[in-house]
Amino acid sequence: MSLWNQLGYSANPYTVNPLAPNAEGSELIVGRDKELRKLTTQLTSTDTHPTIEGDNGSGKTSLVAVAAYRAEQEFIEGRSQQLLIPIPDIIQMKSGVDELERDAYFAIARAYVANVKILDDLGFNTFDTSELEKWLGSPFIYGGGGGLSVVGVGGNVTRSVSANTGQGFTDAGFRQLVRDCLHATFPTREHGAFVGVIDNIELLRTSADARQALEAVRDSILSLPGVRWVLCGAKGIVRSVVSSPRLSGRIGRPIDLKPVPDEDVPELVRRRLAHYSTRPDPDAPVNPEGFAHIYKISNANLRNSFKHAQDFALWLDEEGKSQAPPTEKRELLEEWINITAAEYSTATPLQPGQWSLFDKIADAGGSMAPSDYEDFGFNSSQAMRFHLQRLEEANLLDSVIDEDDQRRKTISVTSNGWLVAYHRGKLQREA
Ligand SMILES: Nc1ncnc2c1ncn2[C@@H]1O[C@H](COP(=O)(O)OP(=O)(O)OP(=O)(O)O)[C@@H](O)[C@H]1O
Ligand SMILES: [Mg+2]
Repeated sequence: MSLWNQLGYSANPYTVNPLAPNAEGSELIVGRDKELRKLTTQLTSTDTHPTIEGDNGSGKTSLVAVAAYRAEQEFIEGRSQQLLIPIPDIIQMKSGVDELERDAYFAIARAYVANVKILDDLGFNTFDTSELEKWLGSPFIYGGGGGLSVVGVGGNVTRSVSANTGQGFTDAGFRQLVRDCLHATFPTREHGAFVGVIDNIELLRTSADARQALEAVRDSILSLPGVRWVLCGAKGIVRSVVSSPRLSGRIGRPIDLKPVPDEDVPELVRRRLAHYSTRPDPDAPVNPEGFAHIYKISNANLRNSFKHAQDFALWLDEEGKSQAPPTEKRELLEEWINITAAEYSTATPLQPGQWSLFDKIADAGGSMAPSDYEDFGFNSSQAMRFHLQRLEEANLLDSVIDEDDQRRKTISVTSNGWLVAYHRGKLQREA
């Protein structure tokens, strides 16, 4: 029996996983009506791949999942003419083009196979998926191949095409097969599309790398029929990529995803707790009010807030205090924050100048660009670099130097760093 079961929940209510493209995700999303509308309109009414720029952990992946799921439901319920189907696998951005493409084709193939029955039932043209399934089952050794048939559904013509005869089933053959499936089912945008996420473009660190990688897949995965990718990134990388002339017309202007507003956060947690509770009134380790406090400290990063809430719940259990009354739990939460922050602060010794730089960055909202060095009391970004490195080693800052765009705010306070900043502020106020 898991800790969560003992506490009266069917699963971890503080899970950091993105909301899934299903009824649960749709029920749990809070405060995103406008953004859901924007994204859905782009998906149904333009031919570009939408993009989302938003801080880490602000809910980009979740937004896409719920938008795609709801659009699918709209079609099924007869309220829309265009079928959108979420691709459940999330593609992580990679600099290796081959790997990125392979992940993408596999994700599409899996989604196609999983949905072929429902596509059939809904009257779409579908491809026989037996070849795809073989491929998915043994991607590296399969050497078969042969003819495929497109089965006409709902009175459409049945035709046969052949693929991959002769030299066995190559990677190129697999990709062509995926393309053929898509083309058969979604010949035009009006028919619909699969919706996938290419996530965390900022993992490529420099905007030049990100642009290059996306330009390299422009004519492959970004030009497949029946697939719309939503490109998600943080730290200004999406804006940088969108400016590439080679990608213009292919990717949309970024949807700016602001953090979920403070006032929506208690409701967000209330919904989760209610959704997972197995008892009428279980006593949560972190209640909505306590969570709102963590969220403030975490500088509005939902993912980090959930992680902290989960860690606190585990600590509470270790201390044998899971059954403490709510007011005591709230005090214990404060105690846990202070203990944890104190540990993080002392783990790596730092010089006063480094602490002062850290405090300034936190005070300035938690992020800065290398080109802002003067505002932080340095003569050059070079001079600041050593201190940044030390703060990075202490896991208080995350910093990337993007030679291509020194104005991107690529230096930011980490999850640990925010707890430490809160703790330091409190110590200073008390002094
Ligand atoms: N609008 C929302 N309502 C309720 N929960 C949300 C909402 N948005 C995000 N979450 C939750 O917050 C956490 C972070 O969400 P998500 O992974 O979608 O963010 P992200 O911006 O994609 O993060 P990253 O930058 O790390 O990729 C997840 O636990 C998710 O379930
Ligand atoms: Mg994400």
